[in-house]
Amino acid sequence: MTRKHDMPETHGTPAEGVPGAATHAEGHTGGHGERRTGQYQWWQRGIVYQVYPRSFQDSNGDGIGDLPGIITRLDHLRWLGVDAVWISPIYPSPMADFGYDVSDYTDIHPIFGTLDDFDRLIAEAHGRQLRVILDFVPNHSSDQHPWFLESSASRDNPKRDWYIWRDPGPDGGPPNNWLSNFGGPGWTFHEPTGQYYYHAFLPEQPDLNWRNEEVVQAMLDALRFWLDRGVDGFRVDVIWHLIKDDEFRDNPLNPDWEPGHNPFHAVIPVQTSDRPEVHEVIARIRRLVDEYSERVLIGEIYLPVERLVSYYGVELTGVHLPFNFQLINAPWNAEQIGAMIHDYEKALPEEGWPNWVLGNHDQHRIASRIGSAQARVAAMMLLTLRGTPTLYYGDEIGMRDVEIPVHRIRDPLEINIPGIGLGRDPERTPMQWSGVSNAGFTTGDPWLPVAEDYPEINVDTEKHEHGSILALYRALINLRQGEPALEIGRIELIPATGDLLMYTRSARIGEAGFLIALNLHDSEETRMMPAGATGVILLSTHLDREDLPVTEQITLRPNEGVIIRLDDAPPAGPRDSFFQEL
Ligand code: GLC
Repeated sequence: MTRKHDMPETHGTPAEGVPGAATHAEGHTGGHGERRTGQYQWWQRGIVYQVYPRSFQDSNGDGIGDLPGIITRLDHLRWLGVDAVWISPIYPSPMADFGYDVSDYTDIHPIFGTLDDFDRLIAEAHGRQLRVILDFVPNHSSDQHPWFLESSASRDNPKRDWYIWRDPGPDGGPPNNWLSNFGGPGWTFHEPTGQYYYHAFLPEQPDLNWRNEEVVQAMLDALRFWLDRGVDGFRVDVIWHLIKDDEFRDNPLNPDWEPGHNPFHAVIPVQTSDRPEVHEVIARIRRLVDEYSERVLIGEIYLPVERLVSYYGVELTGVHLPFNFQLINAPWNAEQIGAMIHDYEKALPEEGWPNWVLGNHDQHRIASRIGSAQARVAAMMLLTLRGTPTLYYGDEIGMRDVEIPVHRIRDPLEINIPGIGLGRDPERTPMQWSGVSNAGFTTGDPWLPVAEDYPEINVDTEKHEHGSILALYRALINLRQGEPALEIGRIELIPATGDLLMYTRSARIGEAGFLIALNLHDSEETRMMPAGATGVILLSTHLDREDLPVTEQITLRPNEGVIIRLDDAPPAGPRDSFFQEL
C-alpha cells in the first residue's frame, strides 16, 4: 500500500526561481540533482541530524534514552533548524551491538518505547516539519531473531539458507579466511549442526543471505511496514556488505597491514564486500522506496570515492545518498581537503547529489579529532559545501569524546580489540542539555558516563551565549536555508594555498553569490581577494564581525572561517586563477 503524506515545504524558495541552479560551470556538471520539474527534493535542500537514541534523552529514569525522550526534544531540533532526524536502531534487540543486532524488524524495543510512541514521534515530528529517517540493518540480524533460531535448528530447516552456512575447511577449521570486523574469524562453528555460519561483525550478528529470494522479500516487507507508518526514509547499515562471493574465495592478504593495527585489515575484503551483484539488490530496495513519494535512501558505505559513487547506481537506481565520509579521515589541511572536494565533485555521476558528514556514532567526535577551535571551521565547511549535510547529535554544542573508565566500557569492538582506539563509547555519551545533574539526560544512572564538561558545554548555557558553537551552528543553518546559492547552488573551488580553503557558491552562472574562506590553522592568514572581488562578511565563525566590507584583501584570524556575500558576479573570461573548473 502506498501512503503519501504531504508536508508543506519546510522553508525556502522553490527552485523554480533558480533555473539550472545547481549546475556547474563548464566541463563536468556534477548535476542538477534529482529534480522533479525544477523542484528539488527535501533531502537535497535539507539537513540531516543523527540521534543515537540510547544517549539522546531518557524519559523514564532507566538511564537509557527513549522515544518519548526524543519527542520532548524535537523542539530543540526545530529551533536549530535541521530538516530530518535519523535515529539509530530502535528495534527489539539483545543489544550485543546496541541495536545493530535486530531480533524483530517490525517492532520497537521496550527500552525505547512502543509502536504507539513511534507513531506519536512521527506525528509530532511531521507537525514540526521534521522528517524521520530510520536505521535499517539488512546485512545481519541478531542470532536471537526467530529466523536465525529456525535456520540453526537443523540443516534441513526451510530457513537454513536464509543465513550463510558452510562446512568446515579441510582441516576442520573455518571454511576460508574471512574475518570479522569486530575481531577474530568471520565464521563461528555451530556444534549441533556441524557447520560454520558467517558474520561480518559479532557472532551474535549472523549475516543474512541476500542471494535467497525469500530473504529479499522478507526484508522488503519490513521496509514496507515502516514506509506505510510514514517514515521518510532509511539510512541503510553497511549496505556495501550485502552480497558476498558465492564461491567463498579467500580474501587476499593486505601487504600493508602490520601487527598491532586493526586485525580486520590483515586482509583486503574484496570477496566479502562491494561485490558487483550488490547493486541489483540495492536497486530492488530503491524500487520499493520509489513506490512511495518523497522518501530517501541513504547508504552507509566506507569506500574510496571512485567506488563510493557506484552506489548511486546505474542511472541513479541505487541509494540517493551514499554517505560521503571523506571529512572524517581527511588530513586537516586546505590543499588536501580542496583536492578531496574537487575529486569528489568530479567523480559524481551526472545528477548524483553530493553529501557530507563530519561525525557519527562510529567515529571519534570532530571536536576531539581536530580541536574545539577548528570544529567551528568544520561546521562552516559542512554547512556551506555543495550537498546534503549530516550532523551528529551533540556536535552542535561542541561535545567531545569522553574518556571511558575500563569498568564502564560497553562497546564490543573495544572489548574485543582493546587499547588501539577503536572503541566507540567515547562518542556515544549522553547529550548535554543543561547544567543540572547528568546534564538533564536522565534522572537515573546513565548507561555511559556524562562528560565532565557538561556544566559549560550544554544546550541551555550555549543558547544564552552569543559566541557559542551552538549559536554558530544555528546561524549557519539559518543562513543556508534562506539562500538557494548555499542550499542547492554551484560550487567553485579556488586553488588552495597554505592553510586557506576558499570556494564560492552561487545560484547560477553569472550571479553574485558567496565566497567562503576557511582558515584551517591557528595562525593569522592574509590573502588577496580573488580576481578583485569585493563583498561583505555575513558571518564569521567567531560570530563577532558581521556586515564588514571586504576589498582587495582578506585577513582571517587564527581558526576563523567567514562567509562573504560577493557584490558582483565573478568576472567573465579566463578564470584560471579564480575558478578551478570542476
Ligand atoms: C555499522 C554501524 C555500526 C555497527 C555495524 C554493525 O557500521 O554504524 O555501529 O556496529 O554497522 O551493524
